[in-house]
Amino acid sequence: MAEITLSIIKADVGGYVGHSDVHPELRKCCVVQLEKAKKEGLIIDYCQGEVGDDIALIITHNRGVENEEIHRFAWDTFTAMTQVAKEYGQYGAGQDLLVDAFSGNLKGMGPGFAEMTFEERPSEPVIVFLADKTEPGAWNMPLFRMFADPFNTIGLVIDPSMHEGFRFEVLDLIEERKIIFSLPEEMYDMLVFIGSPSRYVIKHVFRKGSDEPVAVTSTQRLFLMAGKYVGKDDPVMAVRCQSGLPAVGEVLEPFSFPHAVAGWMRGSHHGPLMPVGIEDDTPTRFDGPPRVVGLGFQLKNGKLIGPRDMLGDKSFDNARKLALDAADYFRRHGPFEPHRLPLEEMEYTTMPNVLKKLKDRFKPA
Ligand code: F6R
Ligand code: MG
Ligand code: MG
Repeated sequence: MAEITLSIIKADVGGYVGHSDVHPELRKCCVVQLEKAKKEGLIIDYCQGEVGDDIALIITHNRGVENEEIHRFAWDTFTAMTQVAKEYGQYGAGQDLLVDAFSGNLKGMGPGFAEMTFEERPSEPVIVFLADKTEPGAWNMPLFRMFADPFNTIGLVIDPSMHEGFRFEVLDLIEERKIIFSLPEEMYDMLVFIGSPSRYVIKHVFRKGSDEPVAVTSTQRLFLMAGKYVGKDDPVMAVRCQSGLPAVGEVLEPFSFPHAVAGWMRGSHHGPLMPVGIEDDTPTRFDGPPRVVGLGFQLKNGKLIGPRDMLGDKSFDNARKLALDAADYFRRHGPFEPHRLPLEEMEYTTMPNVLKKLKDRFKPA
C-alpha cells in the first residue's frame, strides 16, 4: 500500500441551539458534499464527525498534507453548510470562516486541521479525537501521557519497540517557531514548555529515527488570526495505535482524568475536559463543560472502517463523575481565577475595553 493522508478538517459554521450542537440539516449538507468528493475520486473515504457546535470532515486521500484541492473542498463544504445554517437561522452561521474567499490553503482562514501522511500498515488502528469548548493545548497532557509517561503507557517499559521513546514537535504559537524534543532524555526540558498549553502545543509525535508522524493535532488559534476574540479553537487530533505505538487502551487512558483546560464559557474559563460518548457531545451547562469524543477506525487501503465510539464506554463513567464534580468546584469561583482565565489570556476579550474606560481614574500609588 502506498502512502495515504488522513485529514481532519473542522469548523463551527453555526450552532443549534446557541453553541451546543449541530442541526441535522447541516450534517446532511456535509455528507452530500463528502459523498460527491468520494464519487469524483478526490478522496478515498470519509466520516462526518462532530462535537458540540463543530463539524469535522474526517477524510483519507492520496494528495498529501496542506493540499490545495483538499483544502478548497473543505472550504467549499463549510461555505455550503453556512448557507444552510443561515437558512435555518443557526447561531453564529459561518463564524469560523474568517475571510471572504479561499486562497490556496486553509492556514489563517479559520477552519482547523490536523493531517498526517504515512505508509498504512496491514492493520492500522487510528483514533480521532474531537473536542469542544477548549483550545489546541488541551492535547498536551494526554499526548505526553500516551507517548512519554510509563505510569500511563506500560509499553514504554516492556515493549522493546517503544522502549527508546518518541520525539515531540512543539509549536510556540506566539513567536511562530517550533522545536523537537527527544524523550525520555529531554522530558524535563519539554515539560517547561508544554505545561503552558495556551502558548506551547504539541503538533506532531514521531518515532525515533523516522519522520513519519504517529500523532498530529490542529493548532490554529483564531484570536491570533483575527486579533480579537472570535470564538475558541476547538481542537482535533489523530493518533495511530498498536504494534510499537501505544495500544488503543494506552491512547484512551489519559482521558480517565478530566484535566483542567481553557475554553469554557466565552472562551474565558477553565473547566474539566469531560470524555463523552457521541450521544453526549453537546455542551450545555454554562456552555460546557468542555468535552471530548474519540472515534476509532481501522484503516484499510485508505477506507475508514468505523467509527467506534471509544470514550462512550462505561469505563469512563468515573471520569465523567469526576468531571462533573470538578465542574461544580470551578463554577463556585464565579468570575474569579482560576475558573476565569488569567488577565493575560483575557487580553483579547473584554479587558482592553474596561481598561480604556477606567484609564484616567487610575492614580499613582
Ligand atoms: C462558543 C462559546 C460560548 C460563547 C457564549 C457567548 O464556543 O464558548 O460560550 O462564547 O455563548 O456567545 P455570544 O457572544 O455569541 O453570545
Ligand atoms: Mg459556536
Ligand atoms: Mg465549538
